[in-house]
Amino acid sequence: MMRVLPEGMQLGVASAAYQIEGAWNVSDKSPSIWDTYSDIPGTIKDNTTGKDACKSYEYYQRDIAMLNFLGIMFYRFSISWPRILPNGFANKISKDGSTYYNNLIDELLANGIEPVVTMYHWDLPQSLQDLGGWTNPLIADWFEDYARVLYDLYGDRVKTWITLNEPKQIGVYGYGATRMAPGINARGIGEYLSTKNMLMAHARAWHLYDKEYRSKQNGKIGITIATDYREGMTDDPDDVQAGIDAMDFEVGMYSHPIFSEKGGFPERVIKLVGEKSKQQGYPESRLPEFTKEETEFVKGTSDFYGFNHYSTKFYTRKTYKEGIYPVPSYDDDLGAEWSLLDYTPAILPHCTEIPHGIRKALKWVKDNCNNPPIMITENGFGTLSGLQDEARISYLVKYFNSILDAIEYDKCNVVCYTLWSIMDNFEWDSGLSAKFGIFEVDYNDEKRTRRPRASAFWYKNLVATRSLKPEYRPTLEDISF
Ligand code: NOJ
Repeated sequence: MMRVLPEGMQLGVASAAYQIEGAWNVSDKSPSIWDTYSDIPGTIKDNTTGKDACKSYEYYQRDIAMLNFLGIMFYRFSISWPRILPNGFANKISKDGSTYYNNLIDELLANGIEPVVTMYHWDLPQSLQDLGGWTNPLIADWFEDYARVLYDLYGDRVKTWITLNEPKQIGVYGYGATRMAPGINARGIGEYLSTKNMLMAHARAWHLYDKEYRSKQNGKIGITIATDYREGMTDDPDDVQAGIDAMDFEVGMYSHPIFSEKGGFPERVIKLVGEKSKQQGYPESRLPEFTKEETEFVKGTSDFYGFNHYSTKFYTRKTYKEGIYPVPSYDDDLGAEWSLLDYTPAILPHCTEIPHGIRKALKWVKDNCNNPPIMITENGFGTLSGLQDEARISYLVKYFNSILDAIEYDKCNVVCYTLWSIMDNFEWDSGLSAKFGIFEVDYNDEKRTRRPRASAFWYKNLVATRSLKPEYRPTLEDISF
């Protein structure tokens, strides 16, 4: 059945600085934690780094040509903190760094493409990590200073700001494990310290905008949360509770302080981490709670809900035994095991093809976050190679159908959809070999030539016709950028 996209639902594509820019040490740019981390042997599965990536710093005009080819309305990209502020601190603004984003923003606007700008997509200045990074509460000051620089430089033209991309992934994989930079591995502690500080930093940037910039710049500002879906493995009440708790750990920990009426961390998270901490002999809970003042300060600090979605998983506590996960840890605090039931795993462990999950996740946000405007800031599918990417097209058809169900039947307020990603790029710990692009990037070519995959033609057609035709498959043409 053909379905028409709701009027006003905007379509775009996304990228992030470290994943595409390269030029890791040009001019006065300083290293980010990802430059450092990807140099450590064994961290990146295919031993690549993002130091050159797609060379978008050099070739960004081709990125704009690709956006024009697609006909999309907006482009979500991120700004590299160490490129703008080589010291990490706002005492010195890089001339070359700030010019790069100036040109990018101006050229997007000249082509009728709206810039949607993420302020932090994981590439913290290494110098700030040396001072504790996101585990140091002073980072809320540093982030606010950085935000001010960005509003001053670009706020006259950028009308949509995203403060942080995916705080869970930053905290749990970067500070509570070694899977992502900075790989601190302070399990059961680092993820919670950094989470509180990230939420405080986000709120500081929001308040600054709200107080000093909103009236003259007229933009909106919010946060992007990885909103994967978790549910009970069966209808058994214990499993159902495991699913609810998994959602609270996965999403509620980040959304509840901002979007709920009560504010602060979700009650079940406070209870479960508190009880485990006590059993383990910690004098205080490993989860640092918000004071009353902080709770009020963080509440209501997002003009929209930035929604990233990649997976659905099914939870149970029936088989859970202490020791399955390290103690203490975020996973042990939740104390549940997951499976994909009979669904086929995708090439990356954090991606699944379970289309009903995106509808349920959107509904969860509607019900638990005060029915906010939802910007789908990322959704997409990783493959290994090839221009004929039928797997990605069929994924997109199913996911768009499920999103339309959420809009039409559940009345979720979805205002835009952003496909991840415009092109293949450095997929963090999976390196350059995991491919999320609707454009293929040739990494063997000095120039990083890009070619549209079948899915790029498919998306171009969706943008032009605004109709989802499940059977439609485009003809692949040999074009390069
Ligand atoms: C979410 C992250 O924001 C993005 O950087 C990453 O590439 C995608 N997930 C795909 O894993």
